[in-house]
This record gives sequence, C-alpha cells and structure tokens, in this order.
Amino acid sequence: MTSTIDWNYFISTQGRKFTPSAIRGLFPLEQIPGMVSLLAGKPNPATFPFSSISVALKPIIPSDPVETLVVESEALTEGLQYGPTAGLGGLIKWLEQLQVIRHKREKDASWRVSVGSGSQDLINKAMMALVNDGDTILLESPVYSGTLGLLEPMPCELIEIPTDTAGISADALEDTLENWNTKYPGKRFPKLLYTIPTGSNPTGCSSPLARKEKILALARKHNLLILEDDAYAFLHFNPEQQAPSYIELEARDGGETGRVIRFDSMSKILSSGMRIGFLTGPKELVDVVDLITANTNLQPSSTTQAIVLVLLNKWGHDGFLAHTRRVADFYLEKRDMFERVAHKHLDGLATWVSPDAGMFLYIDLHITKEGSQGDSSELISTTAVKKGVLAVPGKGFSPNGSISSFVRVSFSLATEEDAELAFSRLAECVREARGNRRIIF
Ligand SMILES: Cc1ncc(COP(=O)(O)O)c(C=O)c1O
Repeated sequence: MTSTIDWNYFISTQGRKFTPSAIRGLFPLEQIPGMVSLLAGKPNPATFPFSSISVALKPIIPSDPVETLVVESEALTEGLQYGPTAGLGGLIKWLEQLQVIRHKREKDASWRVSVGSGSQDLINKAMMALVNDGDTILLESPVYSGTLGLLEPMPCELIEIPTDTAGISADALEDTLENWNTKYPGKRFPKLLYTIPTGSNPTGCSSPLARKEKILALARKHNLLILEDDAYAFLHFNPEQQAPSYIELEARDGGETGRVIRFDSMSKILSSGMRIGFLTGPKELVDVVDLITANTNLQPSSTTQAIVLVLLNKWGHDGFLAHTRRVADFYLEKRDMFERVAHKHLDGLATWVSPDAGMFLYIDLHITKEGSQGDSSELISTTAVKKGVLAVPGKGFSPNGSISSFVRVSFSLATEEDAELAFSRLAECVREARGNRRIIF
C-alpha cells in the first residue's frame, strides 16, 4: 500500500510560507546540457586558495600503511562551491542506497533523503515544517535535551510518554491517545510522536520489534507521524538483536508508508565536527524541509560533504557498515569497563539499566525528598562539581522540567582512570547526601 496521508493536515502554517528561493529554485535547470548559467552569485573558484584537499586515513590495522584520500578537480570545485540545497548529488545517491540496504526500502518517488548540518538541523527544520501554534507533541520521556532545546521556543505543548527498559511505553501511549479528551480536555489532538528507538539519549535503552510494531499500529490508528531520531542506530552492541527501524517496518507486508520521518547522524561514526546528518522521509515533507534550508542557511557544507563522499565511495556500503561495527565494538568495550567500575563504587547506592547501544549510563541515584522521588540537580550541579566530577542531572531530559533522581554519564571518552575517579567522587556525594545510610534495592 502507498501513502494515504493528508499532508495539508500535517504541514504547518509556517512551513507552507516558505517558497522556492528565486535563485536556488532554478538550480536544477543548470544541469540541462548546453545551458549557460548566469544565475547564481557563485564565486569564481579560480579565486579560492585551495588546489586540493588531502585527508590521511587511520589504517584499520595500525601497522598497515596510511592511505590518503584526495579531493581534487571537479570534486574539489563542487566541494568548495555553493551546491544543491539537499546535499551533493553523489552523496544523496549513496545515502539513499544505504537506506535501501539497511532498511529494505525499495527506492521509489515517494521518499528521498536530504542532508543537513547534523541531524539536529534537520530535526529543527522538520519541527518547523510540522508544528503549529497550540499543537501538542508526544515525546518519550526522558528525552534528548537538544530536542527539548529546539522545541522550547516553539508555541506548542510537550506531552510526555514514559519509557521503560524497552524504550517508549506502548501501553502509556495507547492510554494517552485513547483517553485524550479526558486526560487533556480542550487540548488539540497530537500529530507527532518523537522517539529515539536505539540506545536512547539518555537511557541507553532500545525498543524491540514487538514494541515498535505496537507503536506503529497506534500511530496509524490515531493518524500520527513518527519522528524516528536514530542517532545511535550504528552503535548497537549486538546487531543481531537490533530491531528493524520504523522506516523499515512501515513498508513491511505492503503496509501504508509515509508516516515515518527518520533522522540519521554521521556524528557518532565519522566526525561530529563535520556536521553531517540526513533525513529520510516522504517527499512531501522533505520538500518543505528543503525550502526551509534554501531560505535560511542555504545548504549544508559542500566541503565536508565532498570529503565524506570520497571516503564513502572508497569504502562502498559494505566498508562503511564494517566501519560502524568497529565503532560499536569500541563503545561496547568502553561500556563494559565503565560499568565494571560503576558497580565497584555505586553498588548499594545507585542502580541503572545496562545500555544495549549508544554511549550513556542513566543512573538512578535514588534521591528522595520526604519519602518521594527527589531531584539530583543540586547534588550533581553543585556538590559533584566541587568534588571534581561533571555529569548531567536527569531533570535536563524531562520535557516539562519535572524532577528526576537520575544522572546521565557518558563513557565515550572516559579512560578507566577517569571512571575510577568519577565514580568514587559520585559515590562520595551520594553517601554524604544520604547521611551514609545505605539503601537495599
Ligand atoms: C538523540 C540525538 N539526536 C540528535 C543528536 C544531534 O546529532 P548531530 O550531531 O547529528 O546533530 C544527538 C546528539 O547528541 C542525539 O543524542
């Protein structure tokens, strides 16, 4: 089945106001053979001081020779120049083929990819394209603080759907949707559901197949779009157990498609500084995101795209996926080391669920206030800093700023020595806060 989605219902008033840029809207015509283009204020590349860009690659086996990638000739001109709004043609093609391979989505005209300055840029633009004044948005909770940050100034209300060890709770979502008018009288029925299905930031938990199937069924029943932020998709520690993505699931068995808007990131696997993320979704929505890009920041950096494209063409899709496995294995080792040290210092003081993907432990410090759950903010932002350990209080991941007894710690950079120091200091903070009382979990 193809899409039955009414985009007039979903695209925001603001999204509709972006019109094709007078210049960028004509860019595709430059590709017509024989066309003389006097269109864009493209600077003459002869004036650019770069004659090539060389990038040395780390060998996979340290004793192997260092390979050098060179961006030169036409690829260099393309990489240094203004380019297509959605990203370099070669990169888009490569990424679309990646989605065909990874998510088993046959390529057709109904979906496409657009590159952004990191997935953050694309999440922001998708929200701009979809959120109206007075809308409600369903968000798993706790949730990535960066999404909360970009939603903060938007005139919408955030509705929390709790998570458990399998990610967003399907039962809680069902209850919210089925009883909307009783639970949220007078509030507009939601159109969007935002979730981080693999190695969630901050919890590190992933949603298994059965959970995703139920969430997708609810989205279809209640006419929601799923915003699938899969920034940690390539960092699953046990890929055999990784559930299919929502974008794969919606196309299974000839199901209705177009309901899933997927965000991928190159930040955790190639470079976060290059700022490359990509959006995969229904053409109608991606077109609006591109109009926002064309009228705001014009395009993502062509230069970093050109470097990445040379690398991806050299690796091929298999080589890229092999690289992502090596990165995931690196973080698996870090996780194991980090948890070992955490257990040594925090057992009896704190608990957490071992993450199956990503780079975070989300630790419940079991702080209480007058017999109920207390907030970790004071302890983490003041006492822990004084003792020399920095981490993020759980409150930063609460869509509506509600209190949290949790703390998020990242194992991506930590050495064993760092972990020893950090967890012994954190344990000291908790012990002091508790007047040295131990808790039986
Ligand atoms: C869940 C999640 N989504 C999106 C992002 C943004 O990533 P990017 O660097 O691709 O903008 C992050 C970054 O940490 C993240 O954790």
